[in-house]
Amino acid sequence: MEKLLIKGGASLKGEISCSGAKNAALPMIAATILSDEDIILKNLPYLQDITTMFELLGSMGADILLNENMDFTIATNNLKEKEARYELVKTMRASILVLGPLVAKYGEAKIALPGGCAIGSRPVNYHLDALEQLGATITLKNGYIEASAKKLIGSKIKFDGITVTGTENIMMAACLAEGTTTLTNVAKEPEIIDLAEFLNKMGAKISGAGSDQITIEGVERLYGTEHSIPADRIEAGTYLVAAAVTNGEIKINGINPNRLIKVLDKLIETGAKVETSEDSISLIMNKDKPKPVDITTAPFPEFPTDMQAQFSVINALANGVSNIYETVFENRFMHVQELNRMGCNIQINGNQAIIEGVDSLYGAEVMATDLRASASLILAGLCAKGETKVDRIYHIDRGYERIEEKLNYLGANIIRLPS
Ligand code: EPU
Repeated sequence: MEKLLIKGGASLKGEISCSGAKNAALPMIAATILSDEDIILKNLPYLQDITTMFELLGSMGADILLNENMDFTIATNNLKEKEARYELVKTMRASILVLGPLVAKYGEAKIALPGGCAIGSRPVNYHLDALEQLGATITLKNGYIEASAKKLIGSKIKFDGITVTGTENIMMAACLAEGTTTLTNVAKEPEIIDLAEFLNKMGAKISGAGSDQITIEGVERLYGTEHSIPADRIEAGTYLVAAAVTNGEIKINGINPNRLIKVLDKLIETGAKVETSEDSISLIMNKDKPKPVDITTAPFPEFPTDMQAQFSVINALANGVSNIYETVFENRFMHVQELNRMGCNIQINGNQAIIEGVDSLYGAEVMATDLRASASLILAGLCAKGETKVDRIYHIDRGYERIEEKLNYLGANIIRLPS
């Protein structure tokens, strides 16, 4: 297995651009199932999860072509299989995103039931309940979800709990339903707005994305289009934290700061100087010690769970004690044991992490457990004394494009060790 070897101590300085957002791209790739015409997607990040999504579409019979500009043309007009097999779903839970499009377009889908994962049990009951309310018949058999519907019928649906991919799945399904669907208690993440924009370009009639209620007027068919994936707000947030923990000075281009407001507020609270333009964020950290910041994760527009692990590294170096409450996933503190091996002083009490700042961190051999947890280990390695070796970095390759290249460009010293 490949590893990353990080020599800590460098202050990150310079300018980088954001890659396309994984969590915006995945539902868009799934949405191509809704159209008989070719869809061109640009600015897709080169990530394992994107490859897995293409593998899934390919296994169903989609044609995927890549041109010299790295634009993907996706043709799903000839799907032979309407099945997401366990081998793929177990490596990427977001495979569930093909459920809504398949049932809406082809009247059938068979999707392996995603199991639990490192960050929690992560059921898909909200997706299934909502799809049933659109008229689908759903059975669970031999570890698979089997869904069918002659034609989905628009409905008024209130989600039992807020779910990002659940909102996306049902928004996609409702595009081809008969009549109007209203969705309430929906996720308001920027990726929901991105998906609605993309679907509307394909001919859907969606309004209200980003607010508490989304209305989808069903249409007969969706068309081909060309679309560019927006920037990854979590990637941007992660690099801002990298600069903050190394007393650095960076500018990130191509990112709309409104997507990161709570994260920027918290960075400012730590003592960082943050400046924004319409599509860039600059951060300077020139304090000896960051101030500790309390954080409670919650659905957008609150502080994102996907930035929680990274902030535990700032807090670990801070001048005092802080608390992080994780309210979205039940088991998202797997990084803490590894960070403590690098000298952090973090105690877990249920969904609360109590972090007492320490003078400095030291390098160690550590193990990544999930995507954002691995990001926090790299951040800790960047500011630690000595060398840190991060194992199981396939987690990081799922969601950060060319991470060591980008960090090295900013002055870090990271080598990818072959397996
Ligand atoms: N939940 C249910 N039932 C459901 C769906 C969700 O109980 O049917 C629970 C989950 O177990 C969790 C909470 O609701 O406790 C929120 O889960 P949500 O469905 O919103 O998460 P998701 O859609 O599976 C997406 C991102 C995650 C991100 C979360 C929260 C994608 C592909 N994934 O997951 O991203 O953490 O929303 O913002 O968009 C990551 O990129 O590292 C990542 C994990």
